Amino acid sequence: MSKIKVVVTDYIEPDLNWEAAELAKRDVDFVYHQLKFVPVEQVIAATRDADVVLVNMVPVTPELIAGWEKCRLVIRHGVGYDNVDVAALEKAGIPLCYIPDYCVEEVAEQAIALLLACGRKLVSSRKVLDDSSARGRWDFTDVIPIYRMAGRTVGIIGCGRIGSRVYQRLQSFGFKFLICDPYLTEERKRELGIEVVDKETVFRESDLITIHTPLTPETRHIVNAETLTMMKPAAYLVNTARGPMVDAQALAEALKNGVIAGAGIDVYSTEPPPPDFPLFGLPNAILTPHLAWYSEEGGWRIRELIILEIDRFVAGLPPRYVAKP
Ligand SMILES: NC(=O)c1ccc[n+]([C@@H]2O[C@H](COP(=O)([O-])OP(=O)(O)OC[C@H]3O[C@@H](n4cnc5c(N)ncnc54)[C@H](O)[C@@H]3O)[C@@H](O)[C@H]2O)c1
Repeated sequence: MSKIKVVVTDYIEPDLNWEAAELAKRDVDFVYHQLKFVPVEQVIAATRDADVVLVNMVPVTPELIAGWEKCRLVIRHGVGYDNVDVAALEKAGIPLCYIPDYCVEEVAEQAIALLLACGRKLVSSRKVLDDSSARGRWDFTDVIPIYRMAGRTVGIIGCGRIGSRVYQRLQSFGFKFLICDPYLTEERKRELGIEVVDKETVFRESDLITIHTPLTPETRHIVNAETLTMMKPAAYLVNTARGPMVDAQALAEALKNGVIAGAGIDVYSTEPPPPDFPLFGLPNAILTPHLAWYSEEGGWRIRELIILEIDRFVAGLPPRYVAKP
């Protein structure tokens, strides 16, 4: 029997020597590439004879899938899989395995950090400190007003793994909550002890909003000029989910014109965002480089879980999580 071949299209680790050693122990053929921004023909050439294709950000399109001779599993290195045409994979009879459970704590922590950093104006406070130090006297003009956060309303859009962890972790802060997730089961709502509201209520009545939905046609630009104007002028928006959920141009206008007070953003429609990205340079935008998923523990956990998925494949077992179109 010929060896199973696993081909990596692109990766974010410094190298994949650990994976190579693990798979060598299992007698699995392992080849890895960095094909993020190359023509599809090049990706096809690299993956044509793979049994398992492991992708990070490379788009998995019908054209790429058509180039495969014997692929039986695609593994997406990560939680979101909006770079993969799942319907086309399903048509080709290839399951998409994804890894939704390696960084729930990290993303929840990042969302909470951004919510608190926005509310306490941490980033602009540093400038106030530097300016005051240079002047030799305190001047808080650029940072006031800051409002007490306890008692305020946090809106959570999407209350799945990460959204519900944010909800649970924030319990002791004295917030009220408005949660929008039309797809939560009654059982899950009972478990969490929550009721849900529509998204308009979240936009209109929340002081802090954090988004945790997948990217779908329904959630693309869920934050746009119209929903931003529904928000309170003192409200903050946090997005650690996917960039295209927020119309960045509309958000930049809203931040410049005082339509809302500020935003904390970890994800972008183009990654990394180009130098003319509209939120760069705005003092009330706290921006992080799509690192919410990252911790040393989480970074290693996903590597172990991917090897586990390859072991399951070799043993003829289905993936732990199969993505749906
Ligand atoms: N920034 C990062 O590093 C990072 C890391 C991991 C995950 N993510 C992103 O975080 C997001 C959430 O991940 P998760 O693991 O919690 O997903 P999940 O599937 O567990 O939960 C998503 C929830 O959103 C709900 N939802 C779907 N459509 C909705 C809509 N239109 N309105 C309201 N709710 C809706 C679903 O019912 C579900 O409960 C995803 O977009 C994922 O890609 C980002």
